[in-house]
Amino acid sequence: MRPISRRQALLLGGLGAAGTVAGGAGLIWSLSSPAARPSGGSLVQPEELRSAAGQLQVRLEAAPAQVQLGGRQAMALGYNGSVPGPTLRIRPGDTLKISLVNSLSQPTNLHVHGLHVSPENNGDNVFIAVGPGSSFDYEYHLPGNHPPGLYWYHPHHHGMVADQVFAGLFGAIIVEDPEPIEASAERVLVVSDTTVDPAGNISAVSAMDRMAGREGDLLLVNGQTNPEFSAAPGQRERWRIVNACVARYLRLRLDGQKMQLLGADSGRFEKPLDVDELLLTPGNRADLLVTAAAGDSVLQASRYNRGSMAGMTGSGAGQGTEETTLATFRVSGESTASPLAIPAQPAPADLRQSAVAAHRQIILTAGMGMGAGGMMPFTINGKQFDEARTDTTAAAGTVEEWSLVNTSPMDHPFHLHVWPMQVLGDNAQAGSSPDWRDVVNVPANGQVKVRIAFADFRGRSAYHCHILDHEDLGMMGAIEVR
Ligand code: C2O
Ligand code: CU
Ligand code: CU
Repeated sequence: MRPISRRQALLLGGLGAAGTVAGGAGLIWSLSSPAARPSGGSLVQPEELRSAAGQLQVRLEAAPAQVQLGGRQAMALGYNGSVPGPTLRIRPGDTLKISLVNSLSQPTNLHVHGLHVSPENNGDNVFIAVGPGSSFDYEYHLPGNHPPGLYWYHPHHHGMVADQVFAGLFGAIIVEDPEPIEASAERVLVVSDTTVDPAGNISAVSAMDRMAGREGDLLLVNGQTNPEFSAAPGQRERWRIVNACVARYLRLRLDGQKMQLLGADSGRFEKPLDVDELLLTPGNRADLLVTAAAGDSVLQASRYNRGSMAGMTGSGAGQGTEETTLATFRVSGESTASPLAIPAQPAPADLRQSAVAAHRQIILTAGMGMGAGGMMPFTINGKQFDEARTDTTAAAGTVEEWSLVNTSPMDHPFHLHVWPMQVLGDNAQAGSSPDWRDVVNVPANGQVKVRIAFADFRGRSAYHCHILDHEDLGMMGAIEVR
């Protein structure tokens, strides 16, 4: 995720203007008439399960489910019958036990995206397959200093990840702040997209859509289209936003309201960052404070051009409408007293001065020739994912610097499990605050450098493009830390 400051957002040019734009169906709406997109009713929060006495034990059953998606009856896949699945609320130092029950007709498994926990045995081990009709007991031990913030869970069975997430299998995980941050309301906003066919089933997608990275016709917040919610002027709310879309980038704006970013992906900035616009790639999260100002505002996702392969058409690659209303925020009534100051956050780790034990190049490539089934191969360092092969071996206790190189004409959001990455800016001013992510966008024909501390945990895990279709098509590698 790339936070954009007030000044930078203005520099993007024209974006700040409250103009009128044409929506997909030729519908016209503007900031002065935010209700022009039909309201999806009041925002519903996913069920919340929270830890007690250092432990949370949950049963998650993945199964076909009749649910409402964007106000329509749909036969989707859900955890415990809902889309999104329940929100799991835990604390640093907790043990999270998840009994995954597979009531699908195909294999699945579970990944806790962003959590800094062991990838071994029954931890965050994506090499486990849970067959139809069976179950598996995962157990995750969060270190006592685990970064607070917003994380999420979803299936990770290679080859089926995009289909299962597109059909509704995902949910949020909150790791609470050791020192609470005062907010008048806390809202979880899980953004997803999908396509429901006229019979109410989740649409299958074409080979072309997979190569582009599928984008659904319905853009949903907690399964709803344009839900609304309200506050009084002066109230400060906590919004936790997950981009659970298979491939869609979300460029978010909330004009007329004050947004402060507490953290991107895992952890916290030392001081909250004022933002006007936020880019969330698939897999990214934003932990936001919104201070309400009188008036109605729309949470908007504007088009982001993530490029495309030559000759590629289809639903993907940012071909969608210019702007979509995600939700409507209504602010009226008596002004309230200003909320308390935000407690100071510990200074984030900074690897810029660390000794580097290894430099690596991770080269993301798409479309050199045709692979099996007429699909373009999506590769990392020239290889499609092979579960039996370990692509990268790192020494525990060391810091590495990776150059993420994209040789294709489309962006790829690069994700590493377990160990977060510190992004080294191009103009790495020593003074700038450290920028930690677990999904880093690598622009088309561009590159990004990151540093990673392989601390705490050993074991075998994965890195991949978080356009989940690309992951399924092979843009993934296995890493072992030992
Ligand atoms: Cu959110 Cu390996 O994924
Ligand atoms: Cu992950
Ligand atoms: Cu990709």
